[in-house]
Amino acid sequence: MRVLSSLTLLVSLLSLNVFARSTTTVNGKRNNDKNHFVKQQGTQLMVNGSEFKYLGTTAYWLSSLNSDEDINATLGNISQAGFNAVRTWAFNDVDTIPENGTWFQTIQNGTAIINNGTNGLQKLDKVMELAQNHGIYVLLSLTNNWNPRPTDNINVTDPLNAFRFGTRDVLTNNSLPRGALSNDYGGMDFYVRQLGGTQEHDQFFTNQTLIDAFKNYTTHIVTRYANHPNVLAWELANDPRCNSSINASVGCVAQNVTRWHSTLAQHVSNLDPNHIVATGHQGFFCTGCPKLFFRQAPPSPRPSPAAGTRRSARVMPLTRERILKERREAFKKTRALAKKSGQSGEGIRIRGRWVSTPTRRQQDVGMGSAFDGSAGVDSEDINSIPQIGMTSFMLFPDQNSYGTDDPNLPPFNNTVEQGLQWIKTHTDSSRLFGKPVTMSGMGLVAQNNTQAFVPFNSTVAPFAGDSSPAFGPTQQQPFASQDQVNDAFSQWLQAGVLGGIQGMIQYQWSQTGLTTQPGTVISPISNDTTTSPVSNVPTRSGVSPNDGYGNQDVGALSQIVQQVGQGFVPDQNTQGTA
Ligand SMILES: *[C@@H]1O[C@H](CO)[C@@H](O)[C@H](O)[C@H]1NC(C)=O
Ligand SMILES: *[C@@H]1O[C@H](CO)[C@@H](O)[C@H](O)[C@H]1NC(C)=O
Ligand SMILES: *[C@@H]1O[C@H](CO)[C@@H](O)[C@H](O)[C@H]1NC(C)=O
Ligand SMILES: *[C@@H]1O[C@H](CO)[C@@H](O)[C@H](O)[C@H]1NC(C)=O
Ligand SMILES: *[C@@H]1O[C@H](CO)[C@@H](O)[C@H](O)[C@H]1NC(C)=O
Ligand SMILES: *[C@@H]1O[C@H](CO)[C@@H](O)[C@H](O)[C@H]1NC(C)=O
Ligand SMILES: *[C@@H]1O[C@H](CO)[C@@H](O)[C@H](O)[C@H]1NC(C)=O
Ligand SMILES: *[C@@H]1O[C@H](CO)[C@@H](O)[C@H](O)[C@H]1NC(C)=O
Ligand SMILES: *[C@@H]1O[C@H](CO)[C@@H](O)[C@H](O)[C@H]1NC(C)=O
Ligand SMILES: *[C@@H]1O[C@H](CO)[C@@H](O)[C@H](O)[C@H]1NC(C)=O
Ligand SMILES: *[C@@H]1O[C@H](CO)[C@@H](O)[C@H](O)[C@H]1NC(C)=O
Ligand SMILES: *[C@@H]1O[C@H](CO)[C@@H](O)[C@H](O)[C@H]1NC(C)=O
Repeated sequence: MRVLSSLTLLVSLLSLNVFARSTTTVNGKRNNDKNHFVKQQGTQLMVNGSEFKYLGTTAYWLSSLNSDEDINATLGNISQAGFNAVRTWAFNDVDTIPENGTWFQTIQNGTAIINNGTNGLQKLDKVMELAQNHGIYVLLSLTNNWNPRPTDNINVTDPLNAFRFGTRDVLTNNSLPRGALSNDYGGMDFYVRQLGGTQEHDQFFTNQTLIDAFKNYTTHIVTRYANHPNVLAWELANDPRCNSSINASVGCVAQNVTRWHSTLAQHVSNLDPNHIVATGHQGFFCTGCPKLFFRQAPPSPRPSPAAGTRRSARVMPLTRERILKERREAFKKTRALAKKSGQSGEGIRIRGRWVSTPTRRQQDVGMGSAFDGSAGVDSEDINSIPQIGMTSFMLFPDQNSYGTDDPNLPPFNNTVEQGLQWIKTHTDSSRLFGKPVTMSGMGLVAQNNTQAFVPFNSTVAPFAGDSSPAFGPTQQQPFASQDQVNDAFSQWLQAGVLGGIQGMIQYQWSQTGLTTQPGTVISPISNDTTTSPVSNVPTRSGVSPNDGYGNQDVGALSQIVQQVGQGFVPDQNTQGTA
């Protein structure tokens, strides 16, 4: 198999002894040895004096599972697949306290109530304890940018909005349980709804009342786990940006989001000097934006030692000119290749949502929304904040544009190539900061997942060509096949390794055989004949929540991860024996 043979080559290139699993303990006894915290040292992560790298997956729903046994089994499977890290939500905000199921915080009448009971933070305690037993580090995300509700200016009679904003609220009258979708656990817009005078998303970043409320929450969570050796890092927020399901104010710019990162990074690092503070933004650039923190740094004294990494003397900040020049050069190369092999290269891009005709392609000389600051995120500026201990970015081609399509390449190849280029842009630019670089999310929607796919907050249906009326129940499913998803993952992970990346997290894990319980994330489906009529007898036919990225091909995923991991985290065979 082509993919695996090139991986073998990769493995032979790399002989770093960088892997570390956290010390396994018996009987869940906590190891408080400070040597086992994940620390930043220049461009590297360190554990116990050795370089540390991680490969992880996302299971945002872990603390919402209905039994400790399920949490343990899921973490066991994740470990067995070759991962040594998992990313999960450390927030679960509710406006109404649910009858069943997990919740962490409610804010009523301006007052926050933290749930530290057995259906509250004790669930997260359990996740941390069991992760430690399995030698898995946990990246804890403190809030979410996305939390759509039907009241958020959404036209509920437009059927396409079911796909844009989540079927739970819009079309099916709450038939999916709360928490089925990743954007369904509360988040910034929850704070805005409960506390914001003005109903604008960016109040969360700028209004002192809301900043204080979120600081209060982070104080609870961060102090609770400050001494836990298995915290990989604190991720301030998933995908923070100006826009969300509640509109942004017209004045919101990247600097507002950057200042918030600085305030919260200081807060968290003061509370917990043991652990790294990470960002959780998607890595968007804002070329030409005025900076608050970014200073062009001298070259790092310890450039990443990964084989294949060129040691450039001085990396310049990303500019519009450089982006366009690199693209022109890449297109020229593929055009020459296409000519040589007699391919026309003019295939219509099925997934293409940015450009659909050759004419438009040629005219589009813009940088694209990942580079022009339109999301209100300036990753170079945020990454420069002193308290941010590692830089990060994400790769979600189904929801973002990373560049103009190369007309000489078929659609899927454009997706892969733009992903490779995006990873390279970030691993290169990370050398500006002298910090470890990580990829905190990477996902591609497979055809089998089309029905489950709910973009966080699209305002245009993301999979339509310019002339077709968006995807809906009757449209054909234009997503990647499972084989293509595997191919893309494999190439992207390799690109990360070759770029000298310190950690990568795939999005997301899918787990079957879970305990069902009415009114929870793992609810029995109405016609499930295996559900016991006696409510307190658990049945184990539940499937983990899926927002469209749940990986249905765990076999292939774990094969890829184990292959990449051999070079990247070479000691994985010693798992559980450290
Ligand atoms: C967790 O799962 C592992 C197997 O992966 C098992 O050995 C262990 O006993 C389980 N621990 C608990 C507390 O259930
Ligand atoms: C919030 O205020 C309303 C109206 O005064 C009251 O009915 C409700 O009990 C209050 N909730 C809490 C949690 O105090
Ligand atoms: C939960 O929090 C309350 C209020 O802060 C505290 O009194 C109680 O001891 C806590 N319970 C547990 C189990 O941590
Ligand atoms: C809402 O969507 C429906 C169906 O697409 C459309 O007919 C109606 O005009 C829309 N309403 C508004 C206010 O946009
Ligand atoms: C901040 O939020 C508070 C509470 O909702 C509100 O009273 C105040 O007007 C807001 N401040 C600004 C500047 O919008
Ligand atoms: C945050 O904590 C401070 C100090 O304990 C308190 O005065 C304030 O009311 C809290 N804010 C919220 C929204 O709970
Ligand atoms: C999210 O939806 C709102 C309401 O339709 C819209 O104003 C906002 O621009 C959207 N944000 C993004 C990032 O698409
Ligand atoms: C947002 O940032 C801009 C640019 O720094 C600043 O002028 C503005 O006051 C900020 N807005 C708020 C509400 O803080
Ligand atoms: C497109 O990608 C496939 C799968 O990775 C590869 O086999 C094929 O050679 C690529 N085509 C071009 C024109 O690059
Ligand atoms: C909560 O669980 C109980 C016991 O299983 C069940 O009878 C009840 O319907 C559930 N509540 C909701 C809202 O689903
Ligand atoms: C169960 O319900 C689902 C969703 O409505 C349906 O697709 C499926 O065919 C049903 N299965 C049986 C056995 O009735
Ligand atoms: C995708 O769906 C098809 C048709 O339902 C099924 O045969 C196939 O096994 C699925 N593939 C995966 C990887 O789940």
